[in-house]
Order: sequence, then C-alpha cells, then structure tokens
Amino acid sequence: MNPIVNRYTQLVQIDHPIVQEGLGPFRTPKLAAAVSNAGGLGTVSMPGMPADLAAGARLFRDHIEECRSLTDRPFAVNIPVGVDGNGVVLPFTDIYIRMVLDARREDAELARQLTVLTTSAGFPGDYIAPIHDAGMIHQHKVGSTRQAVKAAEAGVDVIIAAGFEMGGHAPSKAVHSYVLVPSVTEAVDVPVLLTGGARDARGLAAAMALGADGVAMGTRFITSTANTDWHPAYIQALIDAKEGDDVAFDGVYGPCRGLRNAASRRLTDHGTPDSGEIADAVELTRWKIESMQRAQTDGDVEQGLVLAGQVASAIDDIIDIAEFVPSTARGAAEILHTLASSLPTPAVSA
Ligand SMILES: Cc1cc2nc3c(=O)[nH]c(=O)nc-3n(C[C@H](O)[C@H](O)[C@H](O)COP(=O)(O)O)c2cc1C
Repeated sequence: MNPIVNRYTQLVQIDHPIVQEGLGPFRTPKLAAAVSNAGGLGTVSMPGMPADLAAGARLFRDHIEECRSLTDRPFAVNIPVGVDGNGVVLPFTDIYIRMVLDARREDAELARQLTVLTTSAGFPGDYIAPIHDAGMIHQHKVGSTRQAVKAAEAGVDVIIAAGFEMGGHAPSKAVHSYVLVPSVTEAVDVPVLLTGGARDARGLAAAMALGADGVAMGTRFITSTANTDWHPAYIQALIDAKEGDDVAFDGVYGPCRGLRNAASRRLTDHGTPDSGEIADAVELTRWKIESMQRAQTDGDVEQGLVLAGQVASAIDDIIDIAEFVPSTARGAAEILHTLASSLPTPAVSA
C-alpha cells in the first residue's frame, strides 16, 4: 500500500510524493530513472547551454532516451527559463522546450512516460499553453508567494516553492522554506511541493504540515548509489560538508548556493573569476557553467563550483534510492499518525 496518496500523486500518477528535481547542467538520466522506479518522480536535467545549442538539444534528447530505457514509469524534465537583462527569454530555453514537445509528438510511447515539464528561474508565461496543448503537466519553481500566485493564475498545474537554503540557483528574495511554503500553500489552490532543505521522512512530514503535497529534493539524491555519472570527489565533498560550509554566490540566474571553495570565493570576493579579468557577461556565464561541470565531471572540487544545498551539512551517507523513496514516504506517514494520536482529543464545544 502507498502510505501517502494525495492530489499530487494522483495528478502525476506516482506512488510517493517525492520528486528528484532538476540537477543541471549535469547528467541525470540514471538518477531520474532510479527515483521513478522507486515510485517517486525523477527529473532529467538540462545538460548545459553550449555555444552550439542544437548539439545541446541532441545531448538532452539522448539523456531523455537513456532515462526512458531504464524505467517504464512517469518522469519529468527540468528546463530553466533564462532571461536577458531586457527580460527576453534566452534561446536555450526555447530550443530545449521545443525539443521536448517535438520528441513527445514523434513518439507516443515516450509521451506516455515523459508527462511532466518543470520550469524554473524566469516566468514561463509563453510556454504554459504549448506545454498544456502537448498534454503535459506543467510544474514551475518559484521563490516568492507573489510568483506562485502569478504562475497559478497563468495556469501552471503545480507550484514548487523554493526556499533560500536550497542547492543551486536560489530565489533572489532569500525567503527560507519554513516561511515561504505555508504562505504559498495558503495563496494558491494547485498542488505545492517544498524544495530546499528536505532530506528524510521528517522533512516530508514537515512539508505536509506546512500544507504542501510533497517534497522535491536535490542534494539528498546526489549522494546515492544510482548517481554513478558524477565524479566521486563531488559526492565525497557533499558528505564531508559541515554546517556553514555553504555559501550563496552570484550564479547564472541570480544567487546560487554551493560549497565554499576556491572557485566560489573568487565569485564572492570579486564577482568574477579573477578580480575583473572576465568583463563580458556571456564569457562569465560560460566560465560559471564550465566551472560547475569541472567539479561534476573532473572532480575538481576546489577550482570547480560545487552546487549543493545547506542540507549537505546534514547528509553523511550514500542512499539506495529503491529503498529510500518508499521508506521516506512510510516514515512521514508514521510521524504524522504518531503526532496526531499523541495529542489529547480536542474538547467538543457545546
Ligand atoms: C547540483 C545542483 C544543480 C541544480 N540544478 C538545477 C537546475 O538545473 N534547474 C533547477 O530548476 N534547479 C536546479 N537545482 C535545484 C534543485 O532542483 C532543487 O530545487 C534543490 O536542490 C532543492 O534543495 P535541496 O538541495 O536542499 O534539496 C540544482 C540543485 C543542485 C544541488
């Protein structure tokens, strides 16, 4: 029996309200398939934005194909909505979203499984109708209640409320999960997932107590046996991280959380890799993305940017996702039942 069945699990047709959210610009097909196979929702992340975006889209499509070859359960893709200084959507967003919609149109079997598209970063306004027209569920990640209301009113199906303690690109307003999530769940009628700081059954139970329908975790899933695509040094750096070892620096779409090291210090001290050496914004963005990939693929966790949430300080093991996802749902249900049954029965007022 699935211990937690709610409107989110029913909408997305999964067993447990536990999502592995986007972990770009990295390789995640195996991770996504493992989470989907375990009864959660895995997400294939966007692989980066190389100068040749057609090649980037082909690589992304390969990752999607790899994921579907490893699971026959539903899975998602994550595509950030990048915008330039004038608010114009960057080409990679458009190219990647079109690639996903085309891939599903061409392949009915893929469309049956790739049912969820998650956007993040900028407002996805122009993409809401095409995503729905394609028959997909649209999730959007927000960092404020105002953004949540705007997205829900525009027709987004699921809101992912992102607290500032999250790993990777974090909200510019720096509101943490404990404050943000109850405000968002009060303000919108659609299902809400908490993202930022969750790592176990207690996090899922707490998210539900705050009115959320589930959790979307990032950092927790990185240190798992399924994540054989990432360099072991990256995984070890997360396990070794202690409280206070994380920092928010200026990333690609605003603040970004990762571990304190030589690479993040360059950004926090100078805003650029070397006291003003890279002035061009495009070149600086490329340096940041390459630095992230240097940590993930080459294992250079000093000169590369190691994206991770504050919760890394509380993670010290490598999980087996097949066991972790159902036991987290079971544990959360037990916590909620135990807490409810330990309270005195409320007096009935006459
Ligand atoms: C290494 C890393 C890469 C990430 N990349 C993305 C991304 O490409 N798109 C996105 O929407 N969120 C991204 N995130 C955020 C996660 O999807 C998720 O919201 C976040 O990790 C939740 O916080 P947690 O790490 O405390 O679980 C990333 C997070 C990490 C740690």
